Amino acid sequence: MQAAWFDDLIRLVLTRTGIVIREQDSPLLSKEIEILSSKQLGLTPTELLMSLHQSKTESSKVWRELLALLTVGESYFFRDQGQFSLLRDHILPELIAHNSESRRLRIWSAACSSGEEAYSMAILLSQLLPVLAAGQKWDITIVASDINQAVLDKARAGIYSAWSFRRVDPAVKEMYFTKQGDGWKLNQDIQNMVHFCYGNLQEDQYPSLASALHNFDLIICRNVFIYFQAETVNHIASKLAACLNEPGYLIAGHGELGLRGIKGLETTSLDNLVVYKKGNTAPTLIVRPAIFKSAPPAIIPIPAATPILIAKAIKSVPVFAKLLQDAKTLANQGQYDMAAHHCQQAIDINQDSPQPHFVLAQIAEVQGNRQESKIILKKALYLDHEFLPAYVELFNIYIQEDNKKLAEKMLDSALQIVRSLPGHTPIHLYEETSASELLILLEKFQTRL
Ligand SMILES: C[S@@+](CC[C@H](N)C(=O)[O-])C[C@H]1O[C@@H](n2cnc3c(N)ncnc32)[C@H](O)[C@@H]1O
Repeated sequence: MQAAWFDDLIRLVLTRTGIVIREQDSPLLSKEIEILSSKQLGLTPTELLMSLHQSKTESSKVWRELLALLTVGESYFFRDQGQFSLLRDHILPELIAHNSESRRLRIWSAACSSGEEAYSMAILLSQLLPVLAAGQKWDITIVASDINQAVLDKARAGIYSAWSFRRVDPAVKEMYFTKQGDGWKLNQDIQNMVHFCYGNLQEDQYPSLASALHNFDLIICRNVFIYFQAETVNHIASKLAACLNEPGYLIAGHGELGLRGIKGLETTSLDNLVVYKKGNTAPTLIVRPAIFKSAPPAIIPIPAATPILIAKAIKSVPVFAKLLQDAKTLANQGQYDMAAHHCQQAIDINQDSPQPHFVLAQIAEVQGNRQESKIILKKALYLDHEFLPAYVELFNIYIQEDNKKLAEKMLDSALQIVRSLPGHTPIHLYEETSASELLILLEKFQTRL
């Protein structure tokens, strides 16, 4: 049985932050909080609880330490290449064109963690409009907020380890960062484009003129809704919607808001990705929300001056992996025949791998051959019955076909695999995620089915 102080703490955390502490995490977490309480704060758990009740979430040491323990700050530069391509190719050009008279652009990275997301936006903008970085002509605001003060300190320092660059072309790293000790420091002009501040999505009042949280053209709020209950998600999403200009976009993580509509926002699809839009000045297609979307163009901005670095990186990749990578790149560029050809070559080299089949299945799906896609995915599972991406993709397909029974079956299998993995295990679906994040997301879908 759980201690009474811990039950009370769970309720308090939920009210103040929206974060749900899951039953299965409770035994370990209550131990960790006891240790935090006695060793770092010199308090008994009951005293800690009292102090939490009496103090402000924003400014007290007790909340700061507790939130550093409770929140998951997983982030990296250009996380979700598809969404960044979408921003670069569609959303930012549309917003820049629409705001060309006022020359103002306001962006909010809500729940920004250690800043990789906001800085990726700044890099992208500086490439789209080079004069922006120098603060000339355009008035650009990028606000980045998080509830965890420790990650904000890291964001402000702007120094990152290799882990934050795991999806970044080395050429981009070389161009915007300078080696410093064991890490890499972001160039100052890009750092200056982002303003970091404490922000609690649950408790704070927004839109708010006082906190500058208002009139945004774009809000990116990704990989945080998975920690909240449905009603908290609705509440926060509608507050975010009220902070948007028209036209304005809200971008969430894949599937995080996909199954529900958001009051005041239209669910639209661009390049096969679901985004939420306020105002409808550009033609967009209303779609049935899907859980995950197929991999969109995965292009991170690559500076023209550094082809040698890229060539070197490719040269060292084994043949099978290179064929697979090239197949994905070609598919993302819409060169499906060439991509399929590369997959076939990869299969010839390694007939036991489900990976090239997965890419073939995605190509079939994108080309509207859903039945074929299902057959190929089943083949991938025949080769490796623990091949998680195939279960997730089949789940997605069955959901779209309203086949609840089979969707449930696929979801159960996916859940079984994810539960067997250590939480930090990187999982490659359409973007890299961690096993613990994927588990939370899949469990949410399970409760909604
Ligand atoms: C997994 S990170 C996501 C970082 C980034 N958005 C991304 O996708 O790479 C989730 C972040 O949400 C923050 N968070 C959790 N609850 C929050 C709340 N109520 N208000 C603001 N931020 C919150 C956590 O501190 C954490 O840094």
